[in-house]
Amino acid sequence: MNDNHIYPIFDRMLGRADKERLLGQRGAMIWFTGLSGSGKSTVAIALERELQRRGLVCRILDGDNIRTGINAGLGFSAEDRVENIRRIAEVGRLFVDTGIITIAAFVSPTNELRELASRIIGPNDFIEIYVDTPLEVCEQRDVKGLYAKARRGEVKEFTGISAPFEAPENPALRLDTSRLPVGESVGRLLELILPRVTLNGKA
Ligand code: ADX
Repeated sequence: MNDNHIYPIFDRMLGRADKERLLGQRGAMIWFTGLSGSGKSTVAIALERELQRRGLVCRILDGDNIRTGINAGLGFSAEDRVENIRRIAEVGRLFVDTGIITIAAFVSPTNELRELASRIIGPNDFIEIYVDTPLEVCEQRDVKGLYAKARRGEVKEFTGISAPFEAPENPALRLDTSRLPVGESVGRLLELILPRVTLNGKA
């Protein structure tokens, strides 16, 4: 019957609906994808503040934080990027199943990676946001100095320079942070998200 001797106990634990009732909100995954420097983290942080202000509990999962913690040791080969996103999606699913509004900010550069995340989390809970800031702008910002290093060949397989970025085909929302002030991006996000996460008239 069970040849790996693992017996999940999910059926006896309190379920997602119990958690959501307690919190007075619905769980969801807001998945930001976009180039390094496109503004994913900045918008994610501003969004979290606005949701919290409305009494909604969030958790941000962010590239640089996760890569120094649970995913320390993973690099940027195609294989490691898959494992990076797989673990993030599994962790994200735990948060969503706890009724938390989970905000993921990862380059997640290919359709395959984002489909993997959506499959693990569940497509109904997966809201894809494309932070569509032009490469030239991201490179000009070069907050971490990585684009310059990538151009000099000092950082290999750098997304947008020496590794691919595929634009999402059907994002729920597209934000170009070189045209939209942060507050405007957050306003558009709230319009999209609030109807999906509110319960009992909270927020
Ligand atoms: S992902 O492609 O695997 O989804 P992730 O979002 O976790 O990437 O991490 C991206 C961050 O790591 C970038 O914002 C950048 O700061 C840093 N980084 C370092 N090397 C690379 C690289 N080769 N390609 C992309 N980002 C890199």
